[in-house]
Amino acid sequence: MTKLGLGVIGCGNMGASLANGARDLDCAEVVCVSDVDSEKGQALSEKIDCDYEVDYHNMLAREDVQAVMIATPPFLHIDPTIAAAQAGVHVFCEKPMSPTLAGCDAMIAACEQGGVKLGIGLVCRFHPVHRKVRDLARGGDLGTPLCLMVHRLGGGWGGVWSASWRKSRDKSGGTLMEVNAHEIDFMRFVMGDAESVSAAGGQFVQMETDFPDVALVSIRFKNGGVGVLHSSQASAIGGYGGRLDCAEGSVVFPTFWGGEGGLRYKRYDGGETAVAASELSQDESPVSQEIRAFCEVVLNGEDPPVSGADGRAAVEIALAAYQSIETGEAIALPFEE
Ligand SMILES: NC(=O)c1ccc[n+]([C@@H]2O[C@H](COP(=O)([O-])OP(=O)(O)OC[C@H]3O[C@@H](n4cnc5c(N)ncnc54)[C@H](O)[C@@H]3O)[C@@H](O)[C@H]2O)c1
Repeated sequence: MTKLGLGVIGCGNMGASLANGARDLDCAEVVCVSDVDSEKGQALSEKIDCDYEVDYHNMLAREDVQAVMIATPPFLHIDPTIAAAQAGVHVFCEKPMSPTLAGCDAMIAACEQGGVKLGIGLVCRFHPVHRKVRDLARGGDLGTPLCLMVHRLGGGWGGVWSASWRKSRDKSGGTLMEVNAHEIDFMRFVMGDAESVSAAGGQFVQMETDFPDVALVSIRFKNGGVGVLHSSQASAIGGYGGRLDCAEGSVVFPTFWGGEGGLRYKRYDGGETAVAASELSQDESPVSQEIRAFCEVVLNGEDPPVSGADGRAAVEIALAAYQSIETGEAIALPFEE
């Protein structure tokens, strides 16, 4: 088999983005999409020129579907993952993996039992500035990464954020999962596994949700380093960037995305190097890259680059941060639900 037959479950914003991202790949083809909302499902199937099923179980029974990309809301990731695994279909599931560790564990167990691969859509690993920071941090030239600061600040719940499921922590995982799964995963990508989490936060401006809209999440990593995530949905002036100090040098990345996105790095004993966004541009979109990476490892019988364990680890850190905000205590990992 040289091309993986793909199904898409959930044809909203991200399902459409995944289906589009798979379109030009030589290693995969979207053959069917599924959504309980037939208008959305039909529209995407016409755009992609593939079949549509209202019930994803019918899609899982097709011989030409070897893997599915799941883009339902987070609380609805578990059932399709388990059904796919039981049908022998590989799973690429959007972040956050599930709002609970029990959900993550059920997904991992089902895929292990079904003998299928499980990959998680933590796409920032394929964004150019995120990747360059990781390469600099792990390349050795700047020494051990010691202190990573990341901020992701926004102004609330307009546009796609107005979907009702996003306002419920049980359904979305709240901001620390629904938005910051990416930043928490990026912090692990750079620093390695976490050891403990302490956080302060509160609900100040976005009162229609049931979770904090501001969180300062401090993480101690097993490599001895530390990190802070500043997460906010209460910032009239948004922002998304950070900085990293290593034992022998530093990296500053004021903005991850857009034309302004780029970075500077410097060793204590050397000059500063600036890398403009244009120098980091990629031929293939990050979404296409993450799907290609998943499909290629499935075709080659290897393990996905972003695993179920990675998806679970981001959920675990977010849960520990919520508990720390509520109790005022530092939370040692592993986190017990
Ligand atoms: N990687 C990213 O950058 C990124 C960006 C946006 C969203 N996401 C993730 O993608 C997922 C979906 O987000 P979204 O913005 O596309 O949400 P959305 O609300 O736009 O779409 C979800 C879709 O799932 C469908 N659905 C629900 N139950 C279903 C079922 N049983 N079978 C088939 N379809 C079903 C809904 O009808 C809806 O069309 C979430 O996990 C979200 O965190 C990731």
